[in-house]
Amino acid sequence: MKTIDMKSLVGTEVVIDRDDFLSGKYSKEIEHLLVERSALVFREMHLTKEEQLQFAATIGSPIAFGDSAVSNISLDPEVSTSAEYTRGAFYWHIDGANDAVPAKATMLTAKKLSDEGGDTLICNTYAAYADLPEDEKARLDGLMVRHALEATQRMVRPDYSAKDLEIWRSRSSQTHPLVWHHKHGGSSLLIGGTALYVHDMSFEDSSMLLARLMDYATQEKYVYRHKWTVGDFLLWDNTGTIHRADFYPLDSDRLMHRTTLHGEEPVTVGRMAVSNA
Ligand SMILES: [Fe+2]
Repeated sequence: MKTIDMKSLVGTEVVIDRDDFLSGKYSKEIEHLLVERSALVFREMHLTKEEQLQFAATIGSPIAFGDSAVSNISLDPEVSTSAEYTRGAFYWHIDGANDAVPAKATMLTAKKLSDEGGDTLICNTYAAYADLPEDEKARLDGLMVRHALEATQRMVRPDYSAKDLEIWRSRSSQTHPLVWHHKHGGSSLLIGGTALYVHDMSFEDSSMLLARLMDYATQEKYVYRHKWTVGDFLLWDNTGTIHRADFYPLDSDRLMHRTTLHGEEPVTVGRMAVSNA
């Protein structure tokens, strides 16, 4: 297995024998590298759904959506059952931020690309947090943030109705600490488009803090931008990153095969327990 770092703080290309990749021969090295580098690129692997699942099982436990743990990601409702929520992925987010335990990792295989746009961007929030001044870290520690589908969908559909709110609010939502202190010692920012508000703060202060942190974290130096070739396989550590798809035309037939892995570390480990009020 050979590695080529794409940027100093985020993103590494992995060159690996296909059989070694599928067999899990280097699974421990890949898991370690994933936390260290946030995003791993395996170029033009052209994995079948079965192969993607075979690899996924070497580093974790794939989450089944419906009858499969490989989902079609597309804006076309005929191709993807979750197409109406896919536009939310144009905004920075963590997969499963609205759940008690966010996904461990997410992986995509590019099947069809858009003629324009559609890059995937991964932002290393371990590195962003580590670079914060100590007094800022102290201010952020202990702050709690509400995450909900409503937050992302309000950006996608600003003319939402009360009925829309009811539907979005019927889905899971969660209060998480703003700073996630991990078992391995690193700390990451739990922010993104799912963040509805910071608890115990005025609306104005809450939205300003969240916007300021997003501006700060998504600086160029913390972000890897993947420009896709059909067949590429991209894997990211979902617990120490935020990610988004760059905008692409809504009538594009861009198609990704996505697999996410069950989270293995509750956000509140090492912190106070929070009731999901
Ligand atoms: Fe996502």
